[in-house]
Amino acid sequence: MSAIERLLRREADQTQTFNELVISPMRRRDLRAGVLEIEGASHKHPWSRGVFQSEVDQMKSGTRHYLVARRSRGIVGYAGLWLAPDVAHITNVAVQPAGRREGIATVLLLELADIAIGRDYSAWTLEVRVSGQGAQELYRRFGFAPAGVRKRYYEKTEDAIVMWCNEIQSDEYGERLTQIREGVS
Ligand SMILES: CC(C)(COP(=O)(O)OP(=O)(O)OC[C@H]1O[C@@H](n2cnc3c(N)ncnc32)[C@H](O)[C@@H]1OP(=O)(O)O)[C@@H](O)C(=O)NCCC(=O)NCCS
Repeated sequence: MSAIERLLRREADQTQTFNELVISPMRRRDLRAGVLEIEGASHKHPWSRGVFQSEVDQMKSGTRHYLVARRSRGIVGYAGLWLAPDVAHITNVAVQPAGRREGIATVLLLELADIAIGRDYSAWTLEVRVSGQGAQELYRRFGFAPAGVRKRYYEKTEDAIVMWCNEIQSDEYGERLTQIREGVS
């Protein structure tokens, strides 16, 4: 088995627990078990089942990584990364409305940060709606800063702010993540 196959298998097997939150790689069966419902409640233009299936299928080749967060009653949130050749992109993060401001997205992003760092990326990035003030605040906590604007990126009307976070292999970034982790544990 090659090194990349071993890494993918290890990531695919990983399940982490934070307090009562269980974080594990997204499977196709998770879509109907909560992901699609949360997506519909979270985004103006939700991803279809087909888009999610395609993203989950690409986890096998190592170019995507999606996680779900569960509590005893089921899936409460999810988040994903596109692992592009040059940079890791956060593609989607959503938490069920009743579970927000409890640190669920923070735990998911901590796990995605570990994936990006483990794959030796030096930076990660994302796009966020100008109106997404709460999400922007979440990302700022993780060290993301505005790096540009994509005009009328959403529905050809709303601008996207491109946020970027560099030097994620540095000790300073590791300390930032440790502080965030201490805040949720
Ligand atoms: C954005 C979203 C994922 C945040 O999930 P969450 O689990 O509530 O986030 P957390 O509890 O981990 O929040 C961590 C911090 O981010 C900031 N934050 C999160 N939501 C916020 C909000 N609505 N307003 C202001 N700050 C917010 C706060 O600093 C918060 O810390 P605090 O609660 O101690 O003040 C969630 O609101 C959501 O699903 N929104 C709809 C989908 C979306 O906008 N996704 C992002 C697309 S780019």
